[in-house]
Amino acid sequence: MYRILTLNHIATKGLERFGREHYEVASEISHPDAILVRSFDMHTMEIPEGLKAVGRAGAGVNNIPVEALSERGIAVFNAPGANANAVKELVLAGMLLAARNICQAWAYTRELQGDDAELHRQVEAGKKRFAGFELTSRTLGVIGLGAIGVQVANAARGLGMEVVGYDPHMTVGRAWQLDAGVHQAASVDDLVARCDMISLHVPLNEHTRHLLDADRIRSLRPGSVLLNFARDGIVDAAAMVEALDAGHVHAYVCDFPSRQLQGHDRVIALPHLGASTVEAEENCAVMVADQLRDYLEHGNVRNA
Ligand code: MLT
Repeated sequence: MYRILTLNHIATKGLERFGREHYEVASEISHPDAILVRSFDMHTMEIPEGLKAVGRAGAGVNNIPVEALSERGIAVFNAPGANANAVKELVLAGMLLAARNICQAWAYTRELQGDDAELHRQVEAGKKRFAGFELTSRTLGVIGLGAIGVQVANAARGLGMEVVGYDPHMTVGRAWQLDAGVHQAASVDDLVARCDMISLHVPLNEHTRHLLDADRIRSLRPGSVLLNFARDGIVDAAAMVEALDAGHVHAYVCDFPSRQLQGHDRVIALPHLGASTVEAEENCAVMVADQLRDYLEHGNVRNA
């Protein structure tokens, strides 16, 4: 009998992969063989004795002490690509929200009051105040061409945008998936100089912390939109506040709250919703459950 400890809600479809005959799966269990986790921060928890594997139902592993676990011979699995479509769709939504000032316009319209004539006057004022720009003919830069970045780049091509990508670690397989019309930048600086909107799709690590630092934020084209559906910390928040206050950056769209950016009119912040769809949660749970089973039952390592 294998014992699986779940530290977050994990989609039923994934849990069903663990047959009752051979598995006990619960949110409280002593001496687990494996842990299934989504966003729970494992850095501060005591690693149970006898643990063999950890499965992260998502792509990023920032919430998992991978090195410490590896040193103890504990395998770590994640689900790269399983939520890529969900993230791509939200990035597209973010681009449209920012380009058409939808959040501000929605808040404005919700408060409108008065008779027909007054409403008409306020609608006319709103049309002027919230006039936006079209995505077609703008240039999107995609930094990081992994599973998500490639989907975002291709979808933007589908919207008629020019797309420039940058990824020093791109694999041949990913290159084949990329729309032939996506241009390659020589560097992050080259990409920043060529784009009106930039979407970040890199993990947070020592190489990517403040990848968009004060200098690069200052080099953004006037009226740029920056989308961060990756991780907080990749963008220098203090420098971003300055650029937003100065009106140099049109909008910063991010998938997490950031204390320095909280409440800013030009910030659209979401509570880490990129992978929060029924489909993505199921895909991630199934992928990682299958990896754990394969490892526990047969010792197979699929992507540790
Ligand atoms: C990811 O890294 O794929 C996301 O953080 C997944 C999630 O929201 O749990």
